[in-house]
Amino acid sequence: MTIKAIVFDAYGTLYDVQSVADITEEIFPGYGEIITQVWRIKQLEYTWLRSLMRQYRDFAAVTRDALTYTLKCLGLEYDDASFARIMEKYLHLDLYPDAMLALEAMAEKKLAILSNGSPDMLNALVRNSGLRPIIDAVISVDTNRIFKPSPDAYALIETVLKIPPAEVLFISSNPWDACGAKSFGLNVAWIERVTPEAMALACLESDTLPPSTMFKAIRTQMDELGFAPDYRIRSLSELPALISRKS
Ligand code: LAC
Repeated sequence: MTIKAIVFDAYGTLYDVQSVADITEEIFPGYGEIITQVWRIKQLEYTWLRSLMRQYRDFAAVTRDALTYTLKCLGLEYDDASFARIMEKYLHLDLYPDAMLALEAMAEKKLAILSNGSPDMLNALVRNSGLRPIIDAVISVDTNRIFKPSPDAYALIETVLKIPPAEVLFISSNPWDACGAKSFGLNVAWIERVTPEAMALACLESDTLPPSTMFKAIRTQMDELGFAPDYRIRSLSELPALISRKS
């Protein structure tokens, strides 16, 4: 089966969510890393909880709520300006260095993003990072008001692109997202943004494993949900060759 569209998860796959640590460390010295990790864990947890509770709020609200939780749980005092500065970074996250060249090399395919992000957040991020001219469609789960890994979220790919799941390759660094996409019927590549080797090195370099490595650690392992991705890659630069083998 030919792959006609390549669809990317946004946060953690094309964009480095941990790049908010530059700002969080500046505002809360010594806490930069732990803030980003608790924040991301809670942000995702709230998407799943809200989907199960059938109490949808968009990803901008979920992200704000998760940041409030994080700063409170770490006992950090903050003012509105600091909070707004941290949130603002979500519209200017660093693009992973392998993203631009890989996308340009696959420009003959339909290229899209399917993300939990709300349309405003995603459109700003795509524009600010220079991806706008390369990406054919930015698809937000907001249309169906439910987050990944609900099948109703992945179904939006076909609704928007008019390409069936069997002809789509979906790329995510989030193990649960890779499982959800595979369960739905998409072809899936899992990009290992945090490798077991990098984790082992981080453990060697410190006597005790800092709690702030928790989010990284759980990204080194595929989830045990009974669905395995079709491909495992370590850089988006592997994709053009992978796609040409499938064509
Ligand atoms: C996204 C999150 C889940 O972009 O990474 O959808």
